[in-house]
Amino acid sequence: MSRLLAAYPGADLPSVRLGATPTPVRRLDHLDLPVETWVKDESAFGDGGWGGNKVRKLEWIIPEAHRRERRTLFTVGVIGTHWGLAAALYGREHGLRVVLGLVDQPVDDHVRDQTRRLDASGAVVHRFRSVGRLKAAAPLLLARYADGFRLPYYLPAGGSSPVGSLGYVETAFEIAEQVRAGDLPEPTTIVTAVGSGGTAAGLTLGLRMAGMSTRVLGVVVNDAFRLDAVTVADLAERTAALLRERGLRGVPSVRPGDLDADHDWLGATYGATTPEGLDAQRLAADREGLELEPVYTAKALAAVRGLAERGRLCGPVLYLQTHGPRPLA
Ligand SMILES: Cc1ncc(COP(=O)(O)O)c(C=O)c1O
Repeated sequence: MSRLLAAYPGADLPSVRLGATPTPVRRLDHLDLPVETWVKDESAFGDGGWGGNKVRKLEWIIPEAHRRERRTLFTVGVIGTHWGLAAALYGREHGLRVVLGLVDQPVDDHVRDQTRRLDASGAVVHRFRSVGRLKAAAPLLLARYADGFRLPYYLPAGGSSPVGSLGYVETAFEIAEQVRAGDLPEPTTIVTAVGSGGTAAGLTLGLRMAGMSTRVLGVVVNDAFRLDAVTVADLAERTAALLRERGLRGVPSVRPGDLDADHDWLGATYGATTPEGLDAQRLAADREGLELEPVYTAKALAAVRGLAERGRLCGPVLYLQTHGPRPLA
């Protein structure tokens, strides 16, 4: 049973279980970080061929598609998209066709792997050389994949709609329960990567709803569109509005001052590696057995170290490991 729905019985919000909870928390003892740091390992979440934070969003998106009587999801991203892959795998399992509009990005081994996984996922993939071309084609794709009069259910990049963000409202309730159970101390700050904003937005709202004073620090790793405290708070506020529409009472408002967004760890651009990120990735693997990737989670962990060294973070910090790889079949 969803922890959010248990707190608000009678809410008109369908959800489906796609992974086991709670995901594990533990102290990171071997990274020599200057502040007490814990990890919540979201890589463990997800029973299908991919895991991590995108699957949390699909727990709410898939039943919402059924509620809207849609048989097709249409969403967008880059060709190495974790989100598109998770949507394809879990959507198919739940009777949804998934159509992806994907923009080219520099190809490395990880992107090649993702492309192979996507090919095997049953998703219908349309590739574009630029965001402009994808935007121009999107209305035609929506019309082409309509089921009768019903257009596909459109989801923005990263699944970061208000419905998708509910995945991390739910996760905030889970963290609150773990704190109450004594599994970890109440964090001053939760640090997470921001690629499209849904994870940080859902957490910011959910922590307030769960009565915690923990702040979210979003490490922005994507410069393809505007992502900052204003846009993330706006998404959190639209998520709050959705909850109110669906019958939840007393849902708090979220303002830009309720979270922090840090752009200092991006490097040259979205997808580019940084020396601090690669270092964090290597140490996390060697010393803590955590499998990070360089684009999101490595930069977020590098931010924990860098900010703590500058005295801008005090513990206990909770770092969210949002990457959910599974062995390539
Ligand atoms: C592994 C990983 N971590 C973090 C994120 C960021 O999450 P969000 O898109 O909700 O900001 C993403 C996707 O963008 C991701 O693939």
